[in-house]
Amino acid sequence: MSDNESAAIETMLLEERRYPPPAKFAAQANAKPEIYAESFDDFWEREGRERLSWFEPFEGLYEWEPPYAKWYLGGKLNVCFNCVDRHVEAGNGANVAYHWEGEPADDRREISYADLQRDVVRFANALKKVGVVKGTPVAIYMGMVPELPVAMLACTRLGAPHTVVFGGFSADSLSDRMNDMECEVLITQDEAWRRGSPVPLKRTADEAMDAAPGVRASIVLRRTGNDVPMRDGRDHWWDELEAGESDDAASCPCEPMDSEALLFLMYTSGTTARPKGIVHTTGGYLCGVAATHHYIFDLKPERDVYWCAADIGWITGHSYIVYGPLCNGATSVLYEGTPDYPDKERWWEIVERYGVTILYTAPTAIRSHMKWGPQHAEKHDLSSLRLLGSVGEPINPEAWIWYREHIGGDRTPIVDTWWQTETGMILITPLPGVTTLKPGSATKPFPGIDAGVFDERGNEVGPGGGGYLVLKRPWPAMLRGIFKDPARYVETYWSKYENVYFAGDGARIDRDGDFWLLGRVDDVMNISGHRISTIEVESALVDHQDVAEAAVCSRKDATTGEAIVAYVTLKSSADPSIEKLQELRDHVAKKIGAIAKPANIVFTPELPKTRSGKIMRRLLRDVAENRPLGDTTTLADPAVVSEIQHRAEDEQGTDEA
Ligand code: WTA
Repeated sequence: MSDNESAAIETMLLEERRYPPPAKFAAQANAKPEIYAESFDDFWEREGRERLSWFEPFEGLYEWEPPYAKWYLGGKLNVCFNCVDRHVEAGNGANVAYHWEGEPADDRREISYADLQRDVVRFANALKKVGVVKGTPVAIYMGMVPELPVAMLACTRLGAPHTVVFGGFSADSLSDRMNDMECEVLITQDEAWRRGSPVPLKRTADEAMDAAPGVRASIVLRRTGNDVPMRDGRDHWWDELEAGESDDAASCPCEPMDSEALLFLMYTSGTTARPKGIVHTTGGYLCGVAATHHYIFDLKPERDVYWCAADIGWITGHSYIVYGPLCNGATSVLYEGTPDYPDKERWWEIVERYGVTILYTAPTAIRSHMKWGPQHAEKHDLSSLRLLGSVGEPINPEAWIWYREHIGGDRTPIVDTWWQTETGMILITPLPGVTTLKPGSATKPFPGIDAGVFDERGNEVGPGGGGYLVLKRPWPAMLRGIFKDPARYVETYWSKYENVYFAGDGARIDRDGDFWLLGRVDDVMNISGHRISTIEVESALVDHQDVAEAAVCSRKDATTGEAIVAYVTLKSSADPSIEKLQELRDHVAKKIGAIAKPANIVFTPELPKTRSGKIMRRLLRDVAENRPLGDTTTLADPAVVSEIQHRAEDEQGTDEA
């Protein structure tokens, strides 16, 4: 962590710019300064009662038996009811839930809350036909189409837990997840659109289902309309399965669920090869995401048009495209495609078309727009924007300033929100009408969140100090464990400090008590805001028949934040050619997904190891970043590193920009 840390410290020392909340914004804000004065119990009790509708009220706020928490004990509720039905019942059925924009030009749909309710009810009735009942695990493998939230909500309506697998993941990644969760049903689509080309989701799903025999039925949405293989008795077309089903809410009532019932699993990378199934439950999760969405994005459902430009296949999309915004009755934009298709103006065209008022995205996207230049945004009227957000990795002050100037008209606050798949909800963030912003700092813990920075020995560091980010009290949307792996849950998050959650991120607190996040301190890389572990990529490489050994690390990258560099020792029979490089990169894409493809591969006859045989990633990072080498005294064979350095210098041509 020393590299990241020193870089971030430099940044912090230089960063003197301050942005107090504009008076007009502060006057109308959902969160006022007093919000920080409310006690932990009062805050979450009030949020639990007011933010959600319960079929049976909760009796206890929370129970903490480290490392397991339960929230809103005894309460019964349904997520779909909170996100859809209650808005219709309150007379808001005509409000738009999603302005959906497909990738192909003019492919648009407006979905009101009443439409959403009809779509969800009809599809939930269809799910019942393939045997989905309360508790049936369902996998969802789709692109950014309106039917994706419909599928998720239909599951929650029936009380069936889901796992959504990002549409860019490979067949192996999909089957691993389906096997781990013991999924019985898979919801997918024929193909997805990406930069004008069809992505073969159903074909990939077929391969995955071959390796996941527990999946007995699949439901396939027609998106591109191209031919895909369908297996009789197992595969059903979405439209055929739901034809004739009722869309009347009374035909499929919302299942009352216990507050602690499993809502979904979201798989995420850790420090070993197997992805972890992060467990999120019903009441606490929904309250946490709805409350944070309300205060941090200052949502006014009657006037705002909110756009979180993430993918629903990641936690950001679950919490801040689907569950938080819908629970709050928001009008959102849902966009199927990429920011540069058909050209680099696409996002700004969308902001102008729908009058987007709140935009939430990732530093990697902001840096891409910076690279393309402000002229694309300048062609569009972005004056509707009143608030911007950032998530996924530390945002560089230059990117923050660019975002504010060129997108926010030098006028909008920016909320830099820190959180994780495991935390379920945003935990460290400014409140836009309250907090004085500093470019590059996520500022303060959200009300009702007890965060701190600990040193190696578990002492809290004071202002000006640096160390590890921890959470000292449970919070409503926290993970309830790693699915079927309690030992790993304890080891990953609860073994470094007693009864304190270890986030795996480095952090510093400045003299005003503001937090500066410094990146991961473990072997997890952050590529375009997505967590990928070094070991997963290494395992994928070693899986190739020609690879003897592989070590993976990341280097800094101007656009993606970090980029993957792989050092590969081939078996002696194999030829280290350019074609082989491409083959290995494709192999990683096939095993994990295109996001995990190494940007560079260096062939080397030997990897630098300690005498005990541990690969010295720190040295590989030094090589990858062209830095002078750190301490090499523990190396078994120091000559190995200089050899790798020479090879890395010769290897410029393999970088795929
Ligand atoms: C990083 C995404 C600095 C961090 C919601 C964390 C951030 C990991 C920020 C979680 C931020 C996320 N500033 N770093 N605002 N937001 N991170 O699980 O390293 O995909 O641990 O959840 O992203 O990534 P995940």
